[in-house]
Amino acid sequence: MKWTAVKIKALKNERKIAMLTAYDWLSARYVDEAGIPVVLVGDSLGMTVLGYETTLPVTMDEMVHHTAAVARGVKEALIVADMPFMSYQGTLEHALENAGRFIKEGRADAVKIEGGLLRVDLIERLVANGIPVLGHIGLLPQSVKETGGFKMQGKTEESAQRLVQDALALERAGAFAVVLECVPAELAGMITASLHIPTIGIGAGPVCDGQVLVFTDVLGMGHGQAPRFVKQFADLRPQIQSGLNAYKLAVETSVFPE
Ligand code: KIV
Repeated sequence: MKWTAVKIKALKNERKIAMLTAYDWLSARYVDEAGIPVVLVGDSLGMTVLGYETTLPVTMDEMVHHTAAVARGVKEALIVADMPFMSYQGTLEHALENAGRFIKEGRADAVKIEGGLLRVDLIERLVANGIPVLGHIGLLPQSVKETGGFKMQGKTEESAQRLVQDALALERAGAFAVVLECVPAELAGMITASLHIPTIGIGAGPVCDGQVLVFTDVLGMGHGQAPRFVKQFADLRPQIQSGLNAYKLAVETSVFPE
């Protein structure tokens, strides 16, 4: 069964939603075959596979290229493409055109946009034009230069209230779900209880309707330091490295081919 944004939205209060990033055909096949219903082509692509220091340099062309590769590997999961920095912050026309590229060229099913109240007009416009939107509030990696780094959000009463208002605004604008990144678990619980659409947490405690993590973090194959909230479910990096070392040695010592 192919997952749609409508079906994912209907999972609220029915079952928890697992979501994971994928960046190419191979990773997408693994995620899809695990039965994970939502695959996010995150702009974390910049840091996990393209070697950038932040997500800011990631371009539309890079994202569309990788989204199309993911789409070739997916049979059932909902494919959400992350709109990269400066692909939606300008005019609504520019943003609509870019979101359209993800659907037409990348074969995505939906797009993800960072920001709350500020993005309401854009989300309404996309949804009205048939493009499902996943919201994203809390820590916004595309705004780290303005916010001063990768920090927990919503710790003061005022900023917590702002996040609740952001979440409600995203729901009213037509988002089918919302990612809550790095917010206190209690606040995530409050937002989850206030919304009729699912919340997908990352570093936001266990009460959200679903969870999202990054492919390379979950499998322990990344090269950077994973955030503290990450749970690693496999430890592939040493295995990959020792496999490659063994191959090199076998060739150099004429053990392979036999
Ligand atoms: O880019 C990304 O991978 C993300 C998530 C981890 C939420 O935005």
